[in-house]
Amino acid sequence: KQSVVIAGGGSTYTAGIVMMLIENQDKFPLRKLKFYDNNEERQSIVARACEVIVKERAPEIEFLATTDPEEAFTDVDFVMAHIRVGGLSMREKDEKIPLKYGVVGQETCGPGGMAYGMRSIPGVIELIDYMEKYSPNAWMLNYSNPAAIVAEATRRMRPNAKIINICDMPVAIKKSIADIVGLESESEIVDRYYGLNHFGWWTEMTDKQGNDLVPKLKEHVAKYGYAAAGDEENPLLEESSWMDTFQKAKDVYAIDPTTVPNTYLKYYLYPDYVVAHANPNYTRANEVMDNREKNVFAECERIAAAQTAEDTTIEAGEHAEFIVQLAGALAYNTYERMLLIVKNEGAIANLDDDAMVEVPCIVSKRGYEPLCMGKIPHFQKGMIEQQVAVEKLVVDAFEEKSYQKLWQAMTLSKTVPSASVAKQILDEMIEANTEWWPEL
Ligand code: G6P
Repeated sequence: KQSVVIAGGGSTYTAGIVMMLIENQDKFPLRKLKFYDNNEERQSIVARACEVIVKERAPEIEFLATTDPEEAFTDVDFVMAHIRVGGLSMREKDEKIPLKYGVVGQETCGPGGMAYGMRSIPGVIELIDYMEKYSPNAWMLNYSNPAAIVAEATRRMRPNAKIINICDMPVAIKKSIADIVGLESESEIVDRYYGLNHFGWWTEMTDKQGNDLVPKLKEHVAKYGYAAAGDEENPLLEESSWMDTFQKAKDVYAIDPTTVPNTYLKYYLYPDYVVAHANPNYTRANEVMDNREKNVFAECERIAAAQTAEDTTIEAGEHAEFIVQLAGALAYNTYERMLLIVKNEGAIANLDDDAMVEVPCIVSKRGYEPLCMGKIPHFQKGMIEQQVAVEKLVVDAFEEKSYQKLWQAMTLSKTVPSASVAKQILDEMIEANTEWWPEL
């Protein structure tokens, strides 16, 4: 049986992850479940409810929530990390500052992602250090954003750490694809995919019997993107801005119909469209604060007061299932095939070895082994190399405390039109992040 600490106990996703862990006790049995957060107030709201849930549904699991790193990280097999350094109020700034200058405002893409990256790097490194100090044999499964920049930073700054960076977006898209092609679950899809986090393309997709799913999928994507009748049931789409992203995949697909794209490419290929359809005064951070955060916290408080979660509306976080799959593969040697963010080392043959790429990997007790995706075409290679440079420059800027490097990173991003716009955004972001960034 496993001992898990969730770092980011106060996240609005945590209760859904707990539900999902409980539902998967047959595949991934737990002896201990701990929450760790540096924000005691937020964590205790979620923890008081989860304590009731665990007692009611899986009383054999020992549960505790703490803000003490030693208590949190001692005797754990897995650290599941999903921290948001600066919280949703800083996400709001990441999104709104670029929009003021007519640039995409998004938590992982463009200048917003870079600002968030500069905040996340020390937070994630701190978690690795706690893990190595108190449970040196544990694995850290990291899905803290912006995953691409965080992955580059951990590769450089903690090269031997047992950390696996993973993102739920490919899984979420594959869930829609499964619906489109008529499969029950995305786990029946065997895929070939290459790129970076939030920046990739599928080249092949079959079911487990080897039947090609791509022709039917392409026919659909060309018309509707990944949206479909029935998509209202997809938890990612319940709030409006995701619907647009899934629909816009149609235009992302149009520019290279030999592949099938990740939805996030819309921010790089159609930034003008994204900005034109954004409300600079009300962004995704506002949607999340006004909806998910309010609802989840209210429900947690209701459970804690009632001391029962029998009729709770909190559901097993579907898009967190992949974390259990990953942990299960490492613990029980299942040789699961999963898309992970790993050092390239030849997986994309015509790309630098030290780029952090997202490709299929086989996961077992030995860790992960990336599969070789071969050479990629000029269009994707050009885009990927530009974006890799952006991500590397952000980590350079963090390590060297360099204004110049961050200015270069912002200028090089496909979402930013010029060095002068990049400078204006950067200067405002420095002001907004004085509490979080190293002094540049
Ligand atoms: C997807 C992405 C994550 C991102 C999340 C934001 O799951 O893969 O990287 O953090 O969306 O979702 P939200 O509902 O907070 O906008």
